[in-house]
Amino acid sequence: MKMNQKTCFSLIFALLTTSSICLGQTHQVKMKSIELKTSINNTGVFSFQLNYKGKSVLFNSGIGFELSKPNVILNRFELLKLDTSSFDQKWAPIWGEQDTIRNHYKEIVYHLKDKGASKIKLDLIFRVFEDGIGLRYAFPKQTTLDYFIVQHELTEFNLGKDHTAFWIPGDFDTNEYLYNTTKLSQVDAIKAASNEKDIAVTSLVNDHTVQSPLMLKTDDGLFINIHEAALLNYPAMHLDLNKKTFKLNTILVPDAVGNKAYLHTGDVTPWRTILVSDKAVDMIASKTILNLNEPSVIAETDWIKPQKFMGVWWEMHINKADWKLSTGKHGARTENVKKYIDFASQHKFDGVLVEGWNEGWEDWFGNWKENVFDFVTPYKDYNVNELSAYAKTKGIKLIMHHETSGAVTNYERWMDSAYRFMLAHDINTVKTGYVGKIIPRGEHHDGQWMVNHYTRVAKKTSDYKIMVAAHEPVHPTGLHRTYPNWLANEAARGAEFNNAPTLGIPPEHNTILPFTRLMSGPMDYTPGLFHFDLNQFDSSRKQRVLSTLTKQLALYLIMYSPLQMAADLPENYEAHLDAFQFIKNVPVNWSATKVIEAEPGEYITIARKKKNGNDWYLGSISDENARQLVVQLDFLEKGAIYIAKIYRDGPTAAFDKNQTDYLIEEKIVTANSVLTIPIAKGGGTAIEFILKSH
Ligand code: NOJ
Ligand code: CA
Repeated sequence: MKMNQKTCFSLIFALLTTSSICLGQTHQVKMKSIELKTSINNTGVFSFQLNYKGKSVLFNSGIGFELSKPNVILNRFELLKLDTSSFDQKWAPIWGEQDTIRNHYKEIVYHLKDKGASKIKLDLIFRVFEDGIGLRYAFPKQTTLDYFIVQHELTEFNLGKDHTAFWIPGDFDTNEYLYNTTKLSQVDAIKAASNEKDIAVTSLVNDHTVQSPLMLKTDDGLFINIHEAALLNYPAMHLDLNKKTFKLNTILVPDAVGNKAYLHTGDVTPWRTILVSDKAVDMIASKTILNLNEPSVIAETDWIKPQKFMGVWWEMHINKADWKLSTGKHGARTENVKKYIDFASQHKFDGVLVEGWNEGWEDWFGNWKENVFDFVTPYKDYNVNELSAYAKTKGIKLIMHHETSGAVTNYERWMDSAYRFMLAHDINTVKTGYVGKIIPRGEHHDGQWMVNHYTRVAKKTSDYKIMVAAHEPVHPTGLHRTYPNWLANEAARGAEFNNAPTLGIPPEHNTILPFTRLMSGPMDYTPGLFHFDLNQFDSSRKQRVLSTLTKQLALYLIMYSPLQMAADLPENYEAHLDAFQFIKNVPVNWSATKVIEAEPGEYITIARKKKNGNDWYLGSISDENARQLVVQLDFLEKGAIYIAKIYRDGPTAAFDKNQTDYLIEEKIVTANSVLTIPIAKGGGTAIEFILKSH
């Protein structure tokens, strides 16, 4: 089709509404409440705007690149051609929150060419969904460009207004910060980070750069989320905020010499995602980031299994035991691991994680040395053969731990041997970890080199039919659709920070995570702490878990993951076996999910239906305020009768006192019932709905 600056016409998308297209001037694509407008002005500057139900979400926002090889700025374009299409299909995730997911969008591809001397061609692809948009760049094969280096990506998100933001400081090495809730004009990332003393390695950007997923709430009631999808072969995106104009610029994480991405024509960038809704519940339920990822590349997936596990883990964090052998209180002793296997088996768990099993912990952290662990040499008091055999007789799978200490070159050299060692011992799940400064020295956790490393681990583990959960990786971007063996990630402040001396985990944290970190993938949060004063084995500790016991139960619904830990020690569960029953029963795979109510920083209530089952489960949590949960049970099957087993806060419970005051009650309910349940300050409730008759 020949382009003409003056041509305006209408284009009917298959199945969908009419979109008016004015070539060379402005284009619009509408999808229900979402409206994308793009334009190219006379000088070739391309910009896009986003509206929701007529309200402005993004004002004119720019696109483009600055390359350093060749040295060229791509920000003025000629439009060569425009392609449009639409897509509407359902797909079934291998595991997840619901049986099927609808992927429904209109796509518009702008084939652009640099107006300047370089004549470089660049495709800009938009997908417009019912709840937001994705945009990415593709560099087509061309005679004018082959290999090239990205210095800056010029994508902008022009918010234009001083929204309320739920943010963490921009940092190239960690996302384990506490969330701050401020107006954009009040963002001070350096000050916020200066309150944090417990994160191992930080590389702050400046006082006005924040991380994604960035959650925003406008004064007129819109929820906006900005993030990225399908982060492959590219550095992570951070967001540089102009505190006067409220425009966000893309910051890419640099490599050791300051470059951002080494690309080749034929490559694409990750998607930049902007999700919008006037309902907080729809934001949490969005599947757009997942939909922007490619389908599974793993053909045969029957070995991939959601699982619940316990671990020789928390006892090291609270100083009952140690990862090190030399301190004389080694946790990963054969007989101690057997105790965990016995307990986990008795209570029908799938797995037992063992940390500190291998040689190297004596000087594992802080030396920036390359050869720390070899991942195949157990400590002498850890009998790996005996334990593998013992676990098998008990129906338990051991879970492997590969702490790299940031020495990733070393891990890369050992990966094949390490995965073969696992399979030889009947272990098919690994928890990886990246605590420490990265080697190759100068690289960051979130740069292109490490992004490629995490992907290599996902691919290689899948070759060995191994499932993986990464700690301290880059923020997830929905890649668990493509690599369903990549079950979960930490990549945020998880439960272990209850034990951090400085800030810990305030009650609101779990009401923000589903709007931020969890938007792009499951978290290995490790809930289920039943002992709240963390001086149990070390009288010098002042840290406390700022939650009630039943809130810990509710987290199994709120913090969705196909890999869920019962994080506490067997003896702490033995003290509350009636409440532990909920952790035993709660599934880790679901056929349906209903987000009932939510407000970031305040409360969340979610109900989920067990995969291949009839029972429903519900979790509800509150911030530091008490509240009354009033929930209509209209998600239950009409006409059916259920027993609701309610685990709730007792009258004196609060996040900072009487945390173990809880009640367990049973009621007969139907889809017409309404439950009213008091939730304590920093508390929560967890409910099982067991189908009695149809
Ligand atoms: C940090 C991880 O998040 C934690 O789970 C683990 O126990 C330690 N590193 C030691 O590897
Ligand atoms: Ca961590």
